[in-house]
Amino acid sequence: MWKIQLFKLNFDHREHDAVLAAVDSGWLTMGERIQAFEAAFGEYLGHGAHCTAVANGTAALHMALLALDVGPGDEVIIPALTFVADANSVRIVGATPVLADCTSLNDWNVSAESIARQITPRTKAVIVVHYAGFPCDMAAITALCRERGLKLIEDVAHAPGASIAGQMCGTFGDISCFSFFSNKNLSIGEGGMVSAGDAALSQRLRYLRSHGMTTLTLDRHQGRAVTYDVVEPGLNYRMDEMRAAIGLVQLDKLPAGNLRRQALAERYRRNLAGSPLQMPFDQLPGDVVSAHHILPVLLPQGCSRTAVMEMLKAAGVQSSIHYPPFWGFTAYKDSMRAQDAPLAADICSRELTLPLYPTMSDADVDLVTGALLGAVA
Ligand SMILES: Cc1ncc(COP(=O)(O)O)c(C=O)c1O
Repeated sequence: MWKIQLFKLNFDHREHDAVLAAVDSGWLTMGERIQAFEAAFGEYLGHGAHCTAVANGTAALHMALLALDVGPGDEVIIPALTFVADANSVRIVGATPVLADCTSLNDWNVSAESIARQITPRTKAVIVVHYAGFPCDMAAITALCRERGLKLIEDVAHAPGASIAGQMCGTFGDISCFSFFSNKNLSIGEGGMVSAGDAALSQRLRYLRSHGMTTLTLDRHQGRAVTYDVVEPGLNYRMDEMRAAIGLVQLDKLPAGNLRRQALAERYRRNLAGSPLQMPFDQLPGDVVSAHHILPVLLPQGCSRTAVMEMLKAAGVQSSIHYPPFWGFTAYKDSMRAQDAPLAADICSRELTLPLYPTMSDADVDLVTGALLGAVA
């Protein structure tokens, strides 16, 4: 149907062979591939990150809030411009999400200032999202959280491989949450990773992942344990071996994939320069590396996004929106203060996401920008 779809998997025979090898191994969950994936991901992040593979990014967020004892009566500051999973996870543990606005029409991330404005005596934690793969200002945000005694969760769903001065996103907060949903930079289908620098916190996350149990089936199979204790109520948010096998192959492809995304994003920026379309995160500091998860543009005021999306569709180009304002959804509309986030509200109403994936060609980018410039004109 599409000449150029929003996203395509970067899969080949390696993912295929890795899954079959996992199936043929006779051990389907929480085995050596999970251990290898966690170790390799921890090494990739560096900075002493302890990684725990989980079922998906939302599970990682839920576990992070539980591990930091966030619950009823607490407020958690989250970006207004994000996927609803952040708000849902806060609500699911009985806490209240509070919106922090974007920094500017160029920097769509939350800032220390936009977070600080929302702090009250009930604020327990902050969740930041490195939107589209662009790192938030972590020096200022970690300093603020330290000073105000707030826990910091990084939602790194968009940003595996992004870094600031050589330090990877996902190593700045108390706990970091990654998603490996199909359309992410590292695609598994369903999958996630939760990481913590603190070993005790990481141990708590491992208990939460698997029923609060002190040993795994593999430990008992290998004779390292005969039984187990349950140290606190936990969940089953485990990942299986087939997914870990895909994750290992995809992790290997991530650095080259992110570099190709960067080259494509630069081509988009060149092609759209001087047009009425704005691409955010212009002029990044020299030591900041983006993971370029998605390619967002801002349509001019008064331009009908629906009409532009229809014209792109007629040209065979798929587009999307990141994100519709979640505070307008039925579950949230009576409880969120939309007036807290005027910039995010404006961006949500004008944002358009264009195709971006490592196997995209330069000619594909030219076709998309040609169709878009025609539509906007
Ligand atoms: C910013 C953000 N947070 C959280 C999630 C949730 O991840 P998952 O779909 O793996 O549960 C996503 C994924 O779509 C996301 O984009």
